[in-house]
Amino acid sequence: MKTFSYTLRTSGTMKAALGRGMADLPPRFPELFRQTDGICLVTASDAPPSLRARALALFPEKERPHSYFWLPPAEKAKTLEQAGLLCSFLFEEGFSRDSLLIAAGGGAVTDLAGFAASIYMRGIRWISVPTTFLAQIDAGLGGKTAVNLAGAKNIAGTFHQPALAVCDTAFLDSLPHAELRSGAGELVKYAMIGPAELYRAVKGHLSGTLAGDKAALTACVSACAAYKLKLVAADERDERGVREALNFGHTAGHAFEAMAGGRLPHGEAVARGIRFALIVSRETGILSRADFGRLNALVDALRLKEAPVRRDFRRFLSLVSRDKKARGAANRFVLIAGQGRLSPAEDLDAPLLKKAFEGALK
Ligand SMILES: NC(=O)c1ccc[n+]([C@@H]2O[C@H](COP(=O)([O-])OP(=O)(O)OC[C@H]3O[C@@H](n4cnc5c(N)ncnc54)[C@H](O)[C@@H]3O)[C@@H](O)[C@H]2O)c1
Repeated sequence: MKTFSYTLRTSGTMKAALGRGMADLPPRFPELFRQTDGICLVTASDAPPSLRARALALFPEKERPHSYFWLPPAEKAKTLEQAGLLCSFLFEEGFSRDSLLIAAGGGAVTDLAGFAASIYMRGIRWISVPTTFLAQIDAGLGGKTAVNLAGAKNIAGTFHQPALAVCDTAFLDSLPHAELRSGAGELVKYAMIGPAELYRAVKGHLSGTLAGDKAALTACVSACAAYKLKLVAADERDERGVREALNFGHTAGHAFEAMAGGRLPHGEAVARGIRFALIVSRETGILSRADFGRLNALVDALRLKEAPVRRDFRRFLSLVSRDKKARGAANRFVLIAGQGRLSPAEDLDAPLLKKAFEGALK
């Protein structure tokens, strides 16, 4: 057995291994593999060969997955059609309720494969192996699965916790710089919503992360994933408001992402959404100008390129009003009164939102 070091966290019904250079999972988590009659590995068709090789190294030679399924790249994976194709494939390959699905890829792969695992034979176990920075700190953890519908994000989905999440930062060695930058959008979110020590850790590692520094990436994955797992454990099905903090920047961010029609990576859309929320918070008077400057400096550090989003404010309003978190209000946003102090607000006026919309896309 090869050696590797990791921290094992338990969050509700899920375990998470966070670290660098992992291999040979079955001997380490025997209870997950003991009564498994089939293993299917799901990856994206555009993933580099090194990703597949590393995913296979998670298994000893004689316990490798039996079946392989390839999803189309990125958001093209997140459709009901792909979920149906994956479920049909599992059926044709003879997978039963005791089979195991392993999703190795970015958030699009873990969202879609987790969704398929939740509906196949009314739910089978799955292991999440997030391989982008964004997915290791956020998307691959927490059990929210989804597909996009009608040009809007995550409209159909389920809660289905993976039995295990494996966040191995060695996967990030092959990640293109643009994907690191996208992940940094969610990283900045953690600095805003988390405790002061998380803010300090993210601020201290932000430039190293953007430069692809391995130690900085590993430190950020450990700190952010541990924080997310804590929130998820307290509110697995997002019923108590604890997980709402994780949506900071996401209502506007999802609208920008949908308006860009696939040309704006999720994390960059979230970074714009965070700037939107900061401007609204400042303009409503709940966030001081000094705190605005301090928090907005983290978004500035991402050096966002111009967003490929048409300045169509009416479409933006229409998308945010139909956000699933609006729950009957004209709109609902998570605002911020200072680092770590979040404050949801509803039914905000159009002129205020327009000012933030323009500021966020500048
Ligand atoms: N479920 C959740 O809680 C949650 C949270 C945040 C985001 N999300 C979702 O996650 C998705 C975005 O995920 P993402 O940013 O990981 O992007 P992605 O899944 O679209 O992946 C981006 C690209 O990186 C490639 N890639 C993945 N790993 C790689 C590696 N190690 N080396 C080289 N290339 C690699 C992929 O093949 C793809 O082309 C969005 O759909 C978003 O809605 C879900």
